[in-house]
Amino acid sequence: MTDGGQALVLQVAVVSLFPDMVRDAAKYGVTGRAMDRGLVSLDCVNPRDFTGDVHNTVDDRPYGGGPGMVLKMEPVSAAIQAAQSAAAENGKDERPVVFLTPQGRMFDQQLASELAASAGMILVAGRYEGFDERLLETQADLEVSLGDFVLSGGEVAALAVMDAVVRLLPGVLGDDASAQQDSFSSGLLDYPHYTRSESIGSQGIPPVLLSGDHAAIERWRTKEALGRTWVRRPDLLKLRELSSVEQNLLQEFIAEYNARYK
Ligand code: ADE
Repeated sequence: MTDGGQALVLQVAVVSLFPDMVRDAAKYGVTGRAMDRGLVSLDCVNPRDFTGDVHNTVDDRPYGGGPGMVLKMEPVSAAIQAAQSAAAENGKDERPVVFLTPQGRMFDQQLASELAASAGMILVAGRYEGFDERLLETQADLEVSLGDFVLSGGEVAALAVMDAVVRLLPGVLGDDASAQQDSFSSGLLDYPHYTRSESIGSQGIPPVLLSGDHAAIERWRTKEALGRTWVRRPDLLKLRELSSVEQNLLQEFIAEYNARYK
């Protein structure tokens, strides 16, 4: 328990050659507040602290030749073990070891919810050309990718995963409903949002939002979320069954869209 009486919900460790990058970025916004309130802990472990040579070598040339360097098994493995033992001391050692690589399972809201249900996670961020494959074979419970692109290192990916997971934890967001209303938790893209000023140049806002009619506003929002998903991410709609109300709203959206653009 912390001073505020709140129990630790998620214990995160990040194995990284740039621990300050992770620590500093995590201080901001929702993750920072969750840590200040003792709901989330972050332990950064640097593989460089687990090297045995004068140069603190963490990488080496690839067998078989080719460009770039490969992260060595021993220091990364030792860093993961150190992170695991620190967690075990606190009685929480069932944390998945998640490597961030472009070859991993695509990160999405579903995976964020799965990780949010665990006691924590050990996120392993790579640099250079990647990890010695034997590390992945023996240490990884999961490999996760942010998308089909290559980052210069896994830190940004680890931070993204941590952020998406932390905001799902009970008590982290001010209004408990906000995480449920996020884009994707419903399997749909988010509806558009507006705030003051009511008119900016020639741009107004949808009149229904000023009507005070909450049912009509809810209906409009659902229709916009469905419509945007249909326009921008039809693949998501294929994965989701629509209720009859939703089907009608989507048909309305499509009719209006076709009348406007076709
Ligand atoms: N490391 C480098 N590229 C990455 C990606 N696309 N996702 C996760 N980790 C990465």
